[in-house]
Amino acid sequence: MSQEQDKIFFRNFTLVIVFIAVMMIAFYIVADLVTNKEKEPVKNEMNVNSVINITTGNINNGKSLSQTCAVCHGPDGNSVNPIWPKLAGQHASYTAKQLKNFKDGIRVNAQMAGMVATLSEQDMNDLGLYFEAQKNSFGYAKPESINLGEKIYRAGHSESGIPACMSCHGPAGSGNPGAMYPLLRGQHAEYTASQLKMFKKGERNNDTNNVMRSIASRMTKEQIEAVSEYIQGLRLQ
Ligand code: HEC
Ligand code: HEC
Repeated sequence: MSQEQDKIFFRNFTLVIVFIAVMMIAFYIVADLVTNKEKEPVKNEMNVNSVINITTGNINNGKSLSQTCAVCHGPDGNSVNPIWPKLAGQHASYTAKQLKNFKDGIRVNAQMAGMVATLSEQDMNDLGLYFEAQKNSFGYAKPESINLGEKIYRAGHSESGIPACMSCHGPAGSGNPGAMYPLLRGQHAEYTASQLKMFKKGERNNDTNNVMRSIASRMTKEQIEAVSEYIQGLRLQ
């Protein structure tokens, strides 16, 4: 090879290397853009969970749909058997959120999954309105649970980081529909305790921002049972 040929060879060789490098960078940029686009945004919990306060709907549609719920939850949403929660008086927005969560599989229960499969979003809102309009029945707390239950409900247990339930669910357990804090008053103690235990274990995890999971995880079995009894006996003065 002459010196002249050498120069040409090296110049071409350098050009080829530069070309390959540019192509690799371009490929990397394009690939990055494409894969980033394909990354679906993680299902936003707030989107799934924030149903605005429901004020309009067809309560008669809710009433007729509620006939299929009556076997378990009672005709007016006051179930007799404590394994089935009372729905009467519950805020429409909270009921509708739970029904949506059951349908989306975010809240898991075999009995409820079958019940919501064919419901539209409007049906869920209408059911919420129907149950909200029913008067919830109240119960009684076991006398031996009242002391501890009331302490937890009204003051929490600061040593273990348990906040007062009252601060969100209200002094009489009425909850707050705008903030999606459910009504608890009069609910069967057995059901309330089962939900707190499920939150504690993370088996129920449809609470926005982990709010109930982090509270229940700090509670003992004794505190859970006492506060659930206290809630069953709560009523409007
Ligand atoms: C076969 C019995 C059964 C039927 C029928 C049934 N449910 Fe339920 N429902 C349950 C059980 C059990 C739970 C508690 C699930 C759990 O432990 O998480 C529940 C929970 C719920 C909750 C959550 C309550 C809360 O306080 O968080 C709502 C809302 C609800 N049901 C609405 C309905 C509606 C509306 C219908 C009719 C379309 C219906 N259910 C029919 C058994 C039933
Ligand atoms: C910071 C506010 C906050 C505090 C404090 C709080 N909760 Fe809750 N709680 C919520 C929210 C929000 C939900 C609804 C979760 C969902 O969307 O499913 C809820 C749900 C519940 C439920 C489920 C109700 C049902 O019908 O299934 C129970 C039971 C409950 N809370 C009990 C308690 C008890 C007992 C305490 C006190 C130890 C407490 N909560 C303290 C916000 C709070």
